[in-house]
Amino acid sequence: MGKVAVGAAVVCAAAVCAAAALVVRHRMKSSGRWARAMAILRELEDKCGTPIGKLRQVADAMTVEMHAGLASEGGSKLKMLISYVDNLPTGDENGLFYALDLGGTNFRVLRVQLGGKEKHVVKHEFDEVSIPPHLMTGTSEGLFDFIAEALAKFVATEGEGLHPAPGRQRELGFTFSFPVWQTSITSGTLIKWTKGFNIEDTVEQDVVGELTKSMEKIGLDMRVTALVNDTIGTLAGGRYHNQDVIAAVILGTGTNAAYVEKAHAIPKWHGLLPKSGEMVINMEWGNFRSSHLPLTEYDQALDAETLNPGEQIFEKIISGMYLGEIVRRVLLKMAQEADFFGDVVPPKLKIPFVLRTPDMSAIHHDSSPDLKVVGSKLKDILEISNTSLKMRKVVVAVCDVVATRGARLSAAGILGVLKKLGRDTVKDGEKQKSVVAMDGGLYEHYTEFRTSMECTLKELLGDEVAEHISVEHSNDGSGIGAALLAASHSQYHEVEES
Ligand code: GLC
Repeated sequence: MGKVAVGAAVVCAAAVCAAAALVVRHRMKSSGRWARAMAILRELEDKCGTPIGKLRQVADAMTVEMHAGLASEGGSKLKMLISYVDNLPTGDENGLFYALDLGGTNFRVLRVQLGGKEKHVVKHEFDEVSIPPHLMTGTSEGLFDFIAEALAKFVATEGEGLHPAPGRQRELGFTFSFPVWQTSITSGTLIKWTKGFNIEDTVEQDVVGELTKSMEKIGLDMRVTALVNDTIGTLAGGRYHNQDVIAAVILGTGTNAAYVEKAHAIPKWHGLLPKSGEMVINMEWGNFRSSHLPLTEYDQALDAETLNPGEQIFEKIISGMYLGEIVRRVLLKMAQEADFFGDVVPPKLKIPFVLRTPDMSAIHHDSSPDLKVVGSKLKDILEISNTSLKMRKVVVAVCDVVATRGARLSAAGILGVLKKLGRDTVKDGEKQKSVVAMDGGLYEHYTEFRTSMECTLKELLGDEVAEHISVEHSNDGSGIGAALLAASHSQYHEVEES
């Protein structure tokens, strides 16, 4: 071999060695990164764990807090608000009624023609309007003016056969899905905004008064005859179709529950004992918290950055407004501490709330062999491309951990309510059925969440009791339910009865 050839061989060998060293270093580095990412995932699984024993502790704590909240105003983180609904729909409701359903980024206006026992809901029409983001953080006047305008436009589309009886004012059931301290079925003051609303001047303002002022301004002649929370509307809507409905749960942007309580079991109730002996309670369970809740560093950081730190802790680990955001925070940690998506942390991943729960749900439900949906969501939302199948699987696993924790905890909450009602056991020969009416986008659209919640509830109740308890989707309950309550509290009611 000539000198030149030897030199070339040496150079080549050195290059090969250097390249091999690079590959080895790269592999070592990436396996180190992978191990770090896996450690983050394992730790998340560990901290979010909801073994059955823990769920029972959560359910017991819920029952205890329910008692405390009923005993005195401010006695618990659970407000246990008195709704002034002491009569749920019977089926006799008749006539044309309106409803307004406000509680998230969209609101709905509905028109419902009720036909009594025989015909039930003869016709119902609705319109959905999204709230411009600046109105969610502006003044109450701006928000209510906008709503009144939309309501007036909707009223103007009343068609043939869908008018109130001559000489009668239009009546409205107002579903206002925020905590309200009610003083009657038609009046109440807002306690605080939740779910990202940050209106400057409404605390302690009369909610119905505000809406009425805005309606009067534009000459809309309509009277609010029932002011209700969405849980109360859902309970009313559920009861209309099924007399066994005893509670309602919302799993949507926020989460909450309502149930029918014996009036004498409400020590803080100082009103006249209702004829029915019952009163519907809006628990505001989103504000539940307990040392038994499995909280993580991600939840704590998220809570600290919200508009209402320290509040709505149960809601912040269960509901649709927050689940995607928790997942984003976990992925961000993987990116920052394990270079999970490469050497650079994807800038989009740093944007709070960029990953919405419906997208998380699409990722979680991807059943394609190569997780195509996961790949395209990561690309479209977070601008992360070239992900391997292995990486996509990790992203799905993060969604699974976060959704499963929320679903199982909501089942524990339901068990807490059933315990309070003494319906978590069956006595010999008892055939009593209990139905929980459910509504909300998370329940309706996030199948994995819903299935996990329902399975966990069965697991907690045991086969025998589970046969007596069912969870039913009360579709559009909160809107129709509010219209039904507007009907049963109509100003013309007594005239008709006499
Ligand atoms: C939030 C509100 C509550 C509502 C729930 C579901 O928790 O505070 O009033 O029922 O969201 O919409």
